[in-house]
Amino acid sequence: MNRKDIINDSEFGNKAEAFEAFDDIPTNPNLSRTIGDVINRRYGRRDVMRGILGVSATTALFGTSAIIAPKQASAAAAGRYNFDELAWGNDETHHIAEGYNADILLRWGDPITADAPEFDVMNQTAEAQLKQFGYNNDYVGFTALNDEGTSGLLCVNHEYTNEEVMFPEIGRQDRDGFASMTKELVEIEMAAHGGTVVEIAQGTDGKWSLVRDSRYNRRITPLNTEMTLSGPAAGHDRLKTNDDPDGMSVMGTINNCAGGMTPWGTYLMAEENFHGYFWTDNVDADGKAVMDSGNPESTSYGRYGVPGSWYAWGKYYDRWNVDKEPNMPNKYGWVVEVDPRNPDATPVKHTALGRFRHEGAETTVSKDGHLVVYSGDDNRFDYQYKYVSGGTITDETAVFNSPLFSDGTLYVARFDEDGTVAWLPLVHGQGPLTEENGFRSQADVMIDTRIAADLLGATPMDRPEDAQPGPDGTAYIMLTNNTRRTAEEVNAANPRPESSFGHIIEIKEDGEDHAATSGTWSILVKCGDPAIEEVGAQWNPETSENGWFGSPDNCAIDAEGRLWISTDQGSSWGKTGKSDGLYGLETTGDLRGTSRLFFRCPVGGELCGPYFHDSGETLFLAVQHPGTDGTKDFKGFERNSTFEDPATRWPDFDPAMPPRPSVVVVTKQGGGRIAV
Ligand code: FEO
Ligand code: CA
Ligand code: CA
Ligand code: CA
Repeated sequence: MNRKDIINDSEFGNKAEAFEAFDDIPTNPNLSRTIGDVINRRYGRRDVMRGILGVSATTALFGTSAIIAPKQASAAAAGRYNFDELAWGNDETHHIAEGYNADILLRWGDPITADAPEFDVMNQTAEAQLKQFGYNNDYVGFTALNDEGTSGLLCVNHEYTNEEVMFPEIGRQDRDGFASMTKELVEIEMAAHGGTVVEIAQGTDGKWSLVRDSRYNRRITPLNTEMTLSGPAAGHDRLKTNDDPDGMSVMGTINNCAGGMTPWGTYLMAEENFHGYFWTDNVDADGKAVMDSGNPESTSYGRYGVPGSWYAWGKYYDRWNVDKEPNMPNKYGWVVEVDPRNPDATPVKHTALGRFRHEGAETTVSKDGHLVVYSGDDNRFDYQYKYVSGGTITDETAVFNSPLFSDGTLYVARFDEDGTVAWLPLVHGQGPLTEENGFRSQADVMIDTRIAADLLGATPMDRPEDAQPGPDGTAYIMLTNNTRRTAEEVNAANPRPESSFGHIIEIKEDGEDHAATSGTWSILVKCGDPAIEEVGAQWNPETSENGWFGSPDNCAIDAEGRLWISTDQGSSWGKTGKSDGLYGLETTGDLRGTSRLFFRCPVGGELCGPYFHDSGETLFLAVQHPGTDGTKDFKGFERNSTFEDPATRWPDFDPAMPPRPSVVVVTKQGGGRIAV
């Protein structure tokens, strides 16, 4: 099957699913499989399963017990999470545990500045979108503006766009050669990407609302937000482009997935699937990119999957076209820092944190005061990283664009069979990172982080999503799934072949110090239905049928030090029958490995955030792409969503409005700390 067929395969209900399929093409040269092997395995197996009288892939694989006849609910022991567990399911709306409110705070298109026009879905413009809340909200962070924390700045990433449910009458454009994607629509897409900073306030009734006339409110986009660069790669020849002969600036940011807040309240946006935005006009008859063999970036492109051609932006803008701007992809795939308190501050891309498909960028402070940032590279068989600053946090360094973001060391993880983890430094001149292997400077090491990590022998993981540092030198790593790992490729830290449901690793850094270069690791849970032996799940037996989940993605630690996990099963939610949701997961004591369901998404949505207010009384959640993923498995609907015909119209349920990605605020009815 060639690339055109992958795009055109009706299997993929939306761009997210297609992105995921493209990720099946292994770019990690440590693996010996060919692209043909991978695609044959995937589609060969699916075709067999489809042939079973239309029985879904799930039932063919695992039987029907999990889907049709769930075992009797049993209340899991409460442990540290005090709430009545929600019942699992999947329907057109969201659900929260009894006794809690889950209110819609911001929806795609909501005007966020005093002069913004009201949302008119049938007459969208880029100009309006630049003053309205963007699409597909992923990361959510908050920094307080007053001592009580009742006023503050909400920072939200807008990861990508789904044209088939955003715009009338065009359907999926990546299947159709982008025939209907005009320059105007492309500019609306660009304006709907990036991020949003808005002031929000909590009323005396406990409800949060947007402060629409706040001077802090702004959009950050790939269309019109200038950025600068810091660190080893800033100013390097490989970052020089026609519009930036100094290699020191870049227009905007793309595919901002998760992120983090620094200890001093600035906002980190992680650039994830940046490769998908780059375009080439040089394609063969199968639609496959033909790279100019003289292009010095060819090897790098290959390892990063550039150009992906998942958006038509390169048809209208030279900067997204690698034929015209071969160095431009080197300006994306970084962690961006934004100062939410200063709307005039130019965001900065910190190249010392490496270039890869950054899922997130969660920070903590080491015992000696170093800044530590954990970040996974979300691709099958890619790696887990952490960055440790050289200097320590002082009044002078706890500032936006701190030198702590340029003076440090990036490490990649090797998870050994004996339960230890070694953090391997990516430093030019050390070990194999020398000129004879193509690294002429630290800039090369940072631009080609993946290639450097390959040479160091890092452990290829099952798609590292969010990574959350916790108390006492712990860190939790979400490995979301990897259906392409073979039995020969399993290792102790990625123990299941063809893993549809993922697992979570707990790291304990040596000396309980997040700056340590070694530690120990263990598997906290292996996800999936524990009632189905073939799944090989591993939960505390106290976990109820509501509590187990598949495909952990984002995570957070609340004010009580408890771990919360949100899931993203993508088009595969039919394998569990459950919507994506938020779960409290015990990490200590006899109940370690017990999970409980607190919130669930409307059909086709992925749950992002989560972010707990310091008070522990407010929880921010983000529901992205409602109504899109896997809707062929949604009973009674069983087709792909379009603007005119979506699986749900959450959260408005207005026949004139498509589903809208939205931020949800959770509070306890009558007030008080959540789940306490
Ligand atoms: Fe954007 Fe890896 O999730
Ligand atoms: Ca994610
Ligand atoms: Ca997180
Ligand atoms: Ca995901």
